Amino acid sequence: MNDQAARLRSMVRSQTVQLSKTPKSRILVITSGKGGVGKTNLTVNLALAFAKRGCQVILFDADMGMANIDVLLNISPPHNISDVIAGHKTLADILYPVETNLRVVAGGSGIAQLASLAPAVLQQTVDKLAELETQTDFLLIDTGAGISPNVLGFVLAAPEVIVMTTPEPTAIIDAYGILKTLDGQNREARVFLLFNMVESESEARKTFAKIFQIIERFLAIRPLFLGWIEKDGNVGRSVLQQQPFLRTYPYTLAAKRIHLLAGTLIAHGNNTPPNMPNPVGFFAKLGKILFR
Ligand SMILES: Nc1ncnc2c1ncn2[C@@H]1O[C@H](COP(=O)(O)OP(=O)(O)OP(=O)(O)O)[C@@H](O)[C@H]1O
Ligand SMILES: [Mg+2]
Repeated sequence: MNDQAARLRSMVRSQTVQLSKTPKSRILVITSGKGGVGKTNLTVNLALAFAKRGCQVILFDADMGMANIDVLLNISPPHNISDVIAGHKTLADILYPVETNLRVVAGGSGIAQLASLAPAVLQQTVDKLAELETQTDFLLIDTGAGISPNVLGFVLAAPEVIVMTTPEPTAIIDAYGILKTLDGQNREARVFLLFNMVESESEARKTFAKIFQIIERFLAIRPLFLGWIEKDGNVGRSVLQQQPFLRTYPYTLAAKRIHLLAGTLIAHGNNTPPNMPNPVGFFAKLGKILFR
């Protein structure tokens, strides 16, 4: 009897270990070619929308040095990834609780450091960060715009990427640049296109169709139309108040779109085959890319 109980306990223990090692987080990297298209506002408000639905969310600020997420949420996390790199803090120490189901990891100067770390330190750091892959339902990563080596690392390691653009030709050309890079170096990613500050749904769909025509001719990747957010004066008003618009203007059009986008993304996740996304592990892949 005792033997049986001991075997059962050991089985449960080994199952627990196995479970905690299974990556379960959906990792979404939010990026754009051109700056200022609305990435940080999207990421923060999407995080709130997921959290409201009862999903665990970690918001990861991978924008170098700008700490935009802190400004939008009016928070000052005392520690960031550079403390983990230096070994002063554990990952758990730097997870900053914002509200139920929502925590923030500030990248701070740690993001700029990543690409220049000695291989052993980089390995240790990505091993520690990999814990994030088992600790949440959604890991949302806000990047800076463009193709600097560090932003690129996050985009190329991502199992899922949201490429954000406005309907302006300059933003679209720069978004195409990101898509081309993904096509060359991260073709297995699921790529979404999201249109911000549009006049209407029809403008978003027409813009997507135009981009898609060019992609079909020249690239192998096939981005999915994620949706759109209209130009909405309450977004800017909310930024001035240093609050996400989901809190200050929960019924404004932009907030309604965010809730729809959260639903669309959850639905896509439900269609994911069991061995996806990213069996290798996001941070392990990021480490390999930064080693190059
Ligand atoms: N749907 C919208 N309607 C109106 N204004 C918007 C909308 N989305 C974003 N903005 C405005 O665009 C500005 C830039 O937004 P945000 O900081 O989120 O962009 P970003 O892509 O993160 O910029 P960066 O590339 O500098 O990180 C915000 O101050 C906000 O006022
Ligand atoms: Mg930003």
